[in-house]
Amino acid sequence: MSQDDQSIKPWAGRFTEATDSFVEGFTASIGFDHRLYRHDINGSIAHANMLAQVGVLTDAEYQAIATTLEEIRGEIEAGQFNWSVALEDVHMNIEAALTDRIGLTGKKLHTGRSRNDQVATDIRLYLREEIGLIGKEVTRLQQGLLALAEREAETIMPGFTHLQTAQPVTFGHHILAWVEMLSRDYDRLADCRKRLNQCPLGAAALAGTTYPIDRTLTAKLLGFDRPTANSLDSVSDRDFAIEFSAAASLIMMHLSRISEELILWTSIQFDFVDLPDRFCTGSSIMPQKKNPDVPELVRGKSGRITGHLVSLLTLMKSQPLAYNKDNQEDKEPLFDTVDTLKDCLRAYADMVPTIVAKTGNMREAARKGFSTATDLADYLVRKGVAFRDAHEIVGKAVNHGIQTGKDLAEMSLTELQGFSNAISKDVFDVLTLEGSIAARNHIGGTAPEQIKQAIHSVRQAIADR
Ligand code: ARG
Repeated sequence: MSQDDQSIKPWAGRFTEATDSFVEGFTASIGFDHRLYRHDINGSIAHANMLAQVGVLTDAEYQAIATTLEEIRGEIEAGQFNWSVALEDVHMNIEAALTDRIGLTGKKLHTGRSRNDQVATDIRLYLREEIGLIGKEVTRLQQGLLALAEREAETIMPGFTHLQTAQPVTFGHHILAWVEMLSRDYDRLADCRKRLNQCPLGAAALAGTTYPIDRTLTAKLLGFDRPTANSLDSVSDRDFAIEFSAAASLIMMHLSRISEELILWTSIQFDFVDLPDRFCTGSSIMPQKKNPDVPELVRGKSGRITGHLVSLLTLMKSQPLAYNKDNQEDKEPLFDTVDTLKDCLRAYADMVPTIVAKTGNMREAARKGFSTATDLADYLVRKGVAFRDAHEIVGKAVNHGIQTGKDLAEMSLTELQGFSNAISKDVFDVLTLEGSIAARNHIGGTAPEQIKQAIHSVRQAIADR
């Protein structure tokens, strides 16, 4: 990046001294906004096209502008473009390069436009594209989870509340809970895309422009649903970026929860799943260690994304209409949110198909901890005992189990009948893990039959995306 002479500033006419050299660097955004170049060029070509169609530019002028901008795009992509700090941002750098090459015609591109509506357009185009890519990664992750859920539809594990063994569930059911979180995440992204897909071009600096522009045409050329409705709002609004950032924070919050479970489950204390070596790292000192670094890092990165959300909200808070330079600060948090989120989703989508369930250990854990106690209470209710009484009876049986080191299913019929004479030998059907699971056979329940149904419905919903 070069620091060039001051005469290239578009506002040189009004100024009598050069920009302070520190201020020049301080106010510049080219160090990070150059990545918007593709969207900036697309926006400029659409704007010039519209200007030609309404007669503000000639067709030849539009052709010269479009061809030269494509040339510039090629040079940027080939790494041959010289970005200048003196030209502050991506918009002025590209416009200056255009004018260098085609002179007077290049100077006409900015007719009826401002960097304010230009940057608002660029970010929307950028985010629209990224949301598409992120949505695809969410779907890929969900597909991996669905395959895992299908494989483990009948695998029994303990379900937890308060991280204490509660009731048996299937591992497939647990995985499908993650899939549901991600379905809502996908919908939030789609919703955000819908709201941001409006074109600010034509708002110009803040009040609109005196040229006979056709904003609907520009919007259409750029694939927007319509032009934005209010020029002041168009150049100042960044709530689409905040909304995206909130959706990203929720995805990361969900990934952090999944991470936490994988971290617990790969520990020797749980030993429910195994992750392959290629997703783990070792310790430089303890030879036995295999650390779940990918889930841990994703859990950690969720903090960073939430931080960006707070930055963007705080950046926008109390800003008067319309555009303020504060808004230049939207880009770094936004870009980092997109990059980090994409990396985390990619790591997860790659890792999930490699998760190995240690089904024997899961089953053993479900067998312990009186996980079928509620089933025994429900059994008593079916035999005519009131639920509160049944609860107390089972509580006593559990207490007896704790004293004697036996699970409910390990007690003899006479032992169980000591707690209630409503108990007969069919009680053992409900005390087994399979019986407990199979009995919860309704929409959203943990019975393997329901898991298969649920997998089918999510697959159908995904196919419609
Ligand atoms: N680099 C600026 C930004 O990111 C572009 C808009 C500048 N507009 C202005 N009036 N100074 O927000």
